[in-house]
Amino acid sequence: MARSGAAPSTPHPTRADSAPGGPPAGGGFGSRLMRRKPVDRLVAEGGHGDGGELKRSLGMWQLTMISIGATLGTGIFVVLGTAVPKAGPAVTIAFVIAGLTALFSALSYAELAGTIPVSGSSYSYTYATMGEFIAWLCGWCLILEYGVSVAAVAVGWGQYLNEFLDGTVGVTIPAEFANPFGDNGGIVNLPALVLVLLCMVLLLRGARESARLNTVMVVIKIAALVLFCGVAFTGIKAGNFTPLMPMGISGVSAASASLFFSYIGFDAASTAGEEAKNPKRDLPRAIILSLLIVTALYVLVALVAVGAMPWQQFGDTDAALAHILKEVTGQSFWAVLLAAGAVIAIASVVLTVLYGQTRILFSMSRDGLVPRIFSRVDARSGVPRANTVIVSLFCGVLAALVPLHELADATSIGTLFAFALVNVAVIILRRTRPDMPRTFRVWLSPVTPAIGFLLCGYLMTSLNATTWTYFGCWMAAGLVLYFGYGMRRSQLAREEV
Ligand code: ALA
Repeated sequence: MARSGAAPSTPHPTRADSAPGGPPAGGGFGSRLMRRKPVDRLVAEGGHGDGGELKRSLGMWQLTMISIGATLGTGIFVVLGTAVPKAGPAVTIAFVIAGLTALFSALSYAELAGTIPVSGSSYSYTYATMGEFIAWLCGWCLILEYGVSVAAVAVGWGQYLNEFLDGTVGVTIPAEFANPFGDNGGIVNLPALVLVLLCMVLLLRGARESARLNTVMVVIKIAALVLFCGVAFTGIKAGNFTPLMPMGISGVSAASASLFFSYIGFDAASTAGEEAKNPKRDLPRAIILSLLIVTALYVLVALVAVGAMPWQQFGDTDAALAHILKEVTGQSFWAVLLAAGAVIAIASVVLTVLYGQTRILFSMSRDGLVPRIFSRVDARSGVPRANTVIVSLFCGVLAALVPLHELADATSIGTLFAFALVNVAVIILRRTRPDMPRTFRVWLSPVTPAIGFLLCGYLMTSLNATTWTYFGCWMAAGLVLYFGYGMRRSQLAREEV
């Protein structure tokens, strides 16, 4: 999978890297937007924060677990239930389409994470290749991918928590306190808020401690899905697979756009570049391995789920997989077991994605595009503490108040935008820095990244007008912040004067 780059290891500046911060002092407006951060400088700065350094403690196995931890959660346990009414039994095909889109981008991520192993992930790759303005837009979209998805995922957690509580102690959290405002009679989603705060406490203890617990949680969630397949398999009826596409191709396409949410997170390992022991070797492996494992599980679970329950019934059930187990076995025991697995699964997504968000902001802050407080590292724990607290409070409040489906699609569109840029970044870096050692190279570049780019664009166009409106507003807010703050405070801008 990964191979050593044959290129010489001594970096020598070429077009993109010839000036330390891009254009010389006094460059025009356009060239200020285009100023690039030299790749070698990005790599050299790795690990350094304000007041301390991040600790390098994560190996390849833990990195893979971080990516699986961030990926496998609400998408398969909750969003699957809302995608089946759109695609019918062809939801399995929708999973494959979304997975292929993710795979093309994952290859690009693998190449760049192995070449520029820093915490900023696609934000940093874009800074090195397309300049500060596009990098800012990318980082701004990553807040949708990470920060907003934490909230979306935490919202879904409440459904399974209630299923679990109902099956074990016979009580459920009242609707007013288990749903966000305006959704199913909810006022505030307390479980979501509590989950985010618990993850915050864990992250404050250190990346290594969090990664250890995450590994345990990932093993449990994979076991829960395997258990689902094993039990629900006995309830499969061939008749449930026909008609395969009751809503036609457009239904499958809409479902795959929604299901893309379930793949978000495979890139989380790339946000751990500055805490990995051997990032150049391990990051590409972790990214691709996690995506392959997750895709196989998704397709299998979807196949068994639509085989075991008529597709028309999915619209009426909340915790769909648990419901299927109850129907198939006639007992609530299996459903409770699955609900327990889901509770743990979704908690691990929140933990790892929250982690990723803090590390991306860490990189953006080091570059001066967001306030310095985000890159302040606690010397004792090696954790960006203030950053972790601010991000957690933001995500916690969002999760407590905003409905899941609104958040999930907004997350997908922002992520697709960031992924599209990563594909372009691979093509550019191959031209501007062909000499850089690459531990993984995308096959058949530029064709493969170009396909990745087009697939992302295609899925973006499949999302509905409301999602695009949210996205437009989000990007407009990003522009205001960049021109009002980042453009002037950027580290590169300061060096120009
Ligand atoms: N992929 C993550 C999930 O499905 C966001 O929960």
